Amino acid sequence: MSTAPRTQHADPSKEAARRRTFAVISHPDAGKSTLTEALALHAKVISEAGAVHGKAGRRGVVSDWLEMEQARGISITSAALQFEYDDCVINLLDTPGHADFSEDTYRVLAAVDSAVMLLDAAKGLEPQTLKLFDVCRHRDIPVITFINKWDRPGREALQLCDEISERIGLRPMPLTWPVGEAGHFRGVLDRESGEFVGYERSDGGAHLARENRLTADEAASEVGAEWDRAVEESELLTESGGDLDTEAFHAAVATPVLFGSAVRNFGVGQLLDLLVRLAPQPAARPDTRGTPRALDAPFSAFVFKVQTGMDPAHRDRVAFARVCSGEFERGMVATHAATGKPFATKYAQHMFGQQRDTVETAYPGDVVGLVNATALGVGDTLYEGKPAVEFPGIPSFAPEHFAVARTSDPGRAKQFRRGVEQLAQEGVIQVLHSEVRGEGAPVLAAVGPMQFDVVTQRMESEFRAPIKLERLPYQVVRLVGDRNQSAALRTHNSEVLERRDGVTLAVFTDNIALRSLVRLNPDLDLRHLVADAE
Ligand code: G4P
Repeated sequence: MSTAPRTQHADPSKEAARRRTFAVISHPDAGKSTLTEALALHAKVISEAGAVHGKAGRRGVVSDWLEMEQARGISITSAALQFEYDDCVINLLDTPGHADFSEDTYRVLAAVDSAVMLLDAAKGLEPQTLKLFDVCRHRDIPVITFINKWDRPGREALQLCDEISERIGLRPMPLTWPVGEAGHFRGVLDRESGEFVGYERSDGGAHLARENRLTADEAASEVGAEWDRAVEESELLTESGGDLDTEAFHAAVATPVLFGSAVRNFGVGQLLDLLVRLAPQPAARPDTRGTPRALDAPFSAFVFKVQTGMDPAHRDRVAFARVCSGEFERGMVATHAATGKPFATKYAQHMFGQQRDTVETAYPGDVVGLVNATALGVGDTLYEGKPAVEFPGIPSFAPEHFAVARTSDPGRAKQFRRGVEQLAQEGVIQVLHSEVRGEGAPVLAAVGPMQFDVVTQRMESEFRAPIKLERLPYQVVRLVGDRNQSAALRTHNSEVLERRDGVTLAVFTDNIALRSLVRLNPDLDLRHLVADAE
């Protein structure tokens, strides 16, 4: 059902084939903001990196992007940076930098077709990268590895490749190989063409670096011993199965590797070329029954992120949805699968004044920001026409921090309930209830403690329902397979809680408490929770 006249009818399958939708996963400080900006520079979305934000006082990608948008009038939502490159439409989805919000990143990863794993050459695989990589593995997301900061001292290239294969089990397939070690970077050997790509120190990477290519013979005489060593190592890689195998990349068992320096703009063009040439395009997404929704079926999308307060003048709520099939047209009326009610998309224009063009139409792989989306929660499906379709919900992370929330103003009990419910629907926090504690004392569960700060602040400022939080001593959570076993799970070191989606969870003070309970009750049906809905 659609109210607006259709203006444009591109073929959704063809448009999908041009889309590359990905996110960057990294540990804080590996260079994600710098890389984002360098990608935009290469795609000529901006003309000068570093012009948008001063080096100090960087406020994170979201604000950087909003500033970039204002400064350049380009198409950026706080959820996705979209630009054209080499006949492709690149959608780079934003992921929060702080580890405490890794659950948000997890949801974003449900909306991408590939990921770029960004490593600091001196640090290799860091904890946050490992955690996010686990999500990619779980979802079989193909991963490209970009080893960053090669302009300064770091580890050896071979050592970094070994770390990738040993610690995360992905076979590294370097497409380029550094000439000169980290800190004494001369350039890279392009392992496909056999050419040398020279690294020129530019003015801090503010402008596009010129690419200086030499043939193998020229490099041998001009670069000397460092080139010879790179050639030798590259041959060793070939012998050990390190050549490009696109199928293995798509099957998420091997990862193409590039070496570069985001801040100096080196290797960034190669990354874009790699995305265009090899990264998977959007594919038909399976619905809850496992039936893939064809790309050229009528419009369908699912919400992976809900954000409020983007426009301080209004108490707005924007739902970011990834298009899975068909054509999105601003103004169309879709069906909200969870309620069966119509959802009008016409308000998209109020919010995204400057981005009107970009949200006018969208195709599989694109992200649309739907304004006034009070009814939409994370994981919800929207679709057009018949038959109805619903995509599987987005699984939640196993929480590691728990606190009981109570209103500090009994007169605001209604607002308290509404606020908690809304924050749960947005995915800001997981909300659990227990028969024993009662409705007025929900247990909030978080992956990182900073989520509690967000809840406390928003409950007070947005819902005028100040809360008191009492931290609970639990650290370990398991899914209860058989609810009839609940009684045995209530001890002084554990309790049983119900999640909004009807799932029963048991929480324990620590692994010792869990193990001793299992020893006493060997029949307990307890399951791990990571990516529990799958
Ligand atoms: P993040 O978003 O992943 O947290 O990282 P961000 O881009 O903010 O980069 C973190 C630091 O690493 C920044 O330095 C940035 O300049 C630096 N950096 C990023 N890419 C490279 C690179 O290729 N080579 C080198 N040498 N440094 C790089 P900072 O000191 O924290 O801030 P700034 O004052 O340099 O901005």
